Amino acid sequence: MQFRTVATLDGEQLDAVIVPVFKEGDSATAAPDDLRERAEWVASESGPRKIFSATTHLERESGTRLVVVAAGSRDDYDVQRSWQLVSAGVRALWESTASRIAIVLETRSLDEHVAVQSAVEGVSYAMWRPEAYRTGPDERKLPPLAEVLLVVTADDLANPEGDEAAAARGEAIGEAVNWARSLANEPANIMTPTKVAEEARELAGQCGLEIEVLDEEACAALGMGSYLSVARGSDEPAQFVVLRHRGRAGEGFDLGLVGKGITFDSGGISLKDPHDMHLMKYDMSGAAAILAAAGVVGRLKLPINLIAVAPCTENLPGGHATKPGDIVTSMSGKTVEVINTDAEGRLVLIDGVTYAQRQGATRVVDVATLTGAVRTALGRYYTGLFGRPEGFVDAVRRAGDEAGERLWPMPLSDEYRDEMKSEIADLHNSAGRGLGGAILGAAFVDAVVDAETEWAHLDIASTAWFEEDRPFSPKGPQGPTVRTLVQLAASIAARNS
Ligand code: BES
Ligand code: MN
Ligand code: ZN
Repeated sequence: MQFRTVATLDGEQLDAVIVPVFKEGDSATAAPDDLRERAEWVASESGPRKIFSATTHLERESGTRLVVVAAGSRDDYDVQRSWQLVSAGVRALWESTASRIAIVLETRSLDEHVAVQSAVEGVSYAMWRPEAYRTGPDERKLPPLAEVLLVVTADDLANPEGDEAAAARGEAIGEAVNWARSLANEPANIMTPTKVAEEARELAGQCGLEIEVLDEEACAALGMGSYLSVARGSDEPAQFVVLRHRGRAGEGFDLGLVGKGITFDSGGISLKDPHDMHLMKYDMSGAAAILAAAGVVGRLKLPINLIAVAPCTENLPGGHATKPGDIVTSMSGKTVEVINTDAEGRLVLIDGVTYAQRQGATRVVDVATLTGAVRTALGRYYTGLFGRPEGFVDAVRRAGDEAGERLWPMPLSDEYRDEMKSEIADLHNSAGRGLGGAILGAAFVDAVVDAETEWAHLDIASTAWFEEDRPFSPKGPQGPTVRTLVQLAASIAARNS
């Protein structure tokens, strides 16, 4: 797909033009006059519409589809709204043959480069569908988009190199989010730990990253008894995937990412209810997100040293499976009483976090579909954010805001840490009372985070999967936190250089 910024559409033969129109009645800022008039007329004819709904009007003379997207109030406009509106516009072209389209950008409320980047992302997000395994040709919904013109104002066009770089960032991030979605979408019989490692290897090749995959023997030699205790019940070999990007001279890593890579979570001996168990194929969404983000950091050659760690395994109740009450020793040296084998995510995370720290990561962000409780707390629209010190948690939240993703800070204090202490070992993996479960999950991981490490924990069990199609996002895996992590890496890189 080709993206190009233009200031006029004169003489362009287009299959469709997407124009956001605000509730106040005015079009996005960069709309050329004649188009503005048409779009605002279509919007007023169709009356007040729910935000993100698209009205399509076929222009008789040119044969161009005019897609008017209800943009909500101009005051509420932000980077998330920007990609959502573009995505909703492209979605209105599903099942069409549109290949050459234009999108009018809002460049007054947003910096032009942010507008360009988020629009390119928005196109990508609408160009992904979950029906990978349907065999009929009429099941294909996506239009054959080949060229996308991004309409900015003539003033904006003064800096075309900036636009190109912004579009390139948008493409890299859009493709990475869709890559993460595709991995989470694959069924567990395909997306095994071995397959995740293969995908990561291919990604590393494309993005110029170093890759290392530790097998069970190598992990055992490093003392990862906590991670390996989860793998015991499965015949699929566990794979501990490590990507490295060295974008600056010198030792150590400015950022370590750790992603939960449970390719299927049956609960183990503490077997889950069959209701919705099939969805536990997406319990590797954290791993997918951090690998995808590392790929973008590599593609954009950010001047930062980054390590991404994905401890991958199935959680199954085989004959060798860990049993409730078993005690294991983690790489940190801390011992863990496994009360509930369904609290497996934290068991793999602590060895991943310890590994990242021993590799020299001074900041660590872990991403995991960790708890059902975060869904109870936040519903489906915010990722749970935990960590220490507060300044770092704020930086991660700011990165989320700038990237157009929603994170919400949650508390973490010694009372919760105390609840994760075991009677007979250093820690237990479940406090069993069922209160504040998302915080307790975070408190468990906290136990292996060194005092001087800056750490954030993102619980994406709320945001990783959405059961319905939305105007701006296909149903299924959502690929959360990729954008936030890239933004965080970029902000650290900016401080480095
Ligand atoms: N993978 C699940 C969490 C989850 C639930 C993700 C629903 C997405 C949707 C995790 O491994 C789990 O089972 N957590 C338990 C922890 C409990 C046993 C302490 C939970 O949340 O019930
Ligand atoms: Mn579980
Ligand atoms: Zn799980």
